[in-house]
Amino acid sequence: MEKILKDKITIITGAGRGLGEALSYGFAEEGAIICPWDIDEENLTRVAARLESMKRLGKKGNVDITDEKQVSKEMELIESEFGGIDILIANAGILYSYEITEFPEDQWRKIIEVNLTGYFICAKYAARLMKKRGKGVILQINSKSGKKGSYWNSAYAASKFGGIGLTQSMALDLAPFGIRVNAICPGNIFESPLWQESLFQQYAKKWNISIEEVKRKYVEQVPLGRPCTYRDVVNVAIFLASERADYMTGQAINVTGGQEMR
Ligand SMILES: NC(=O)c1ccc[n+]([C@@H]2O[C@H](COP(=O)([O-])OP(=O)(O)OC[C@H]3O[C@@H](n4cnc5c(N)ncnc54)[C@H](O)[C@@H]3O)[C@@H](O)[C@H]2O)c1
Repeated sequence: MEKILKDKITIITGAGRGLGEALSYGFAEEGAIICPWDIDEENLTRVAARLESMKRLGKKGNVDITDEKQVSKEMELIESEFGGIDILIANAGILYSYEITEFPEDQWRKIIEVNLTGYFICAKYAARLMKKRGKGVILQINSKSGKKGSYWNSAYAASKFGGIGLTQSMALDLAPFGIRVNAICPGNIFESPLWQESLFQQYAKKWNISIEEVKRKYVEQVPLGRPCTYRDVVNVAIFLASERADYMTGQAINVTGGQEMR
């Protein structure tokens, strides 16, 4: 049977680790040709090597998504090598957590810069290439914090709410050109470096409880009774990027085990 994303040229930002890395291999397994982007060169090289061994590496890009010049240059290089792109997954994102009255302005701005402006810049140049061919798919990795405020995470939630406004507006701008724009809003991915290396420890300290208790506290909020996994998100991303979702645009799809329903 033919693979569902066979030979689709796919840029994935923030592909050096975490969900972006998982999306890269998941899309490669479905036949896509991956152009992984990241600012972390060491991780990027590791991911590119694995994609190469799967024979699914397009071109790796050591790109800072907040730098318009770097993004436009890399898009040009990809266009000249592959003739255009089929799919952009805007996944790169950052999070710093502070109570609102203690939030440092520079870190607030940085979150908006990467999570919202970075998404805009990548989508702008991807859409220019897609318009020329009259087709394409843009997918943003958003968050359940794009639908509901998040404790100590004002900047992150603001950036993700903004991402949904941007997704819907671009869906309107680009629909006449055959380009679909959607977002995915995952729940808490316990297997990610974000949780493993930082959030579990932070919350355990803040509430003076064990990491196991932190896990229980978060899972209790999920009707399906387990955390979100990379695979849960990858499955929905493959569907949204494929022709099976041809009639879907401007949507922000929750992948939260029922935790968020709007
Ligand atoms: N981990 C979760 O529980 C969770 C839940 C919901 C949504 N998300 C979203 O999923 C996405 C990926 O999250 P993750 O947990 O895998 O994060 P992560 O920190 O593990 O990975 C993010 C990657 O983005 C890269 N990056 C950061 N700034 C960049 C920039 N300016 N240019 C290019 N690359 C840059 C980093 O180097 C890193 O490799 C984010 O948008 C995040 O908001 C994560």
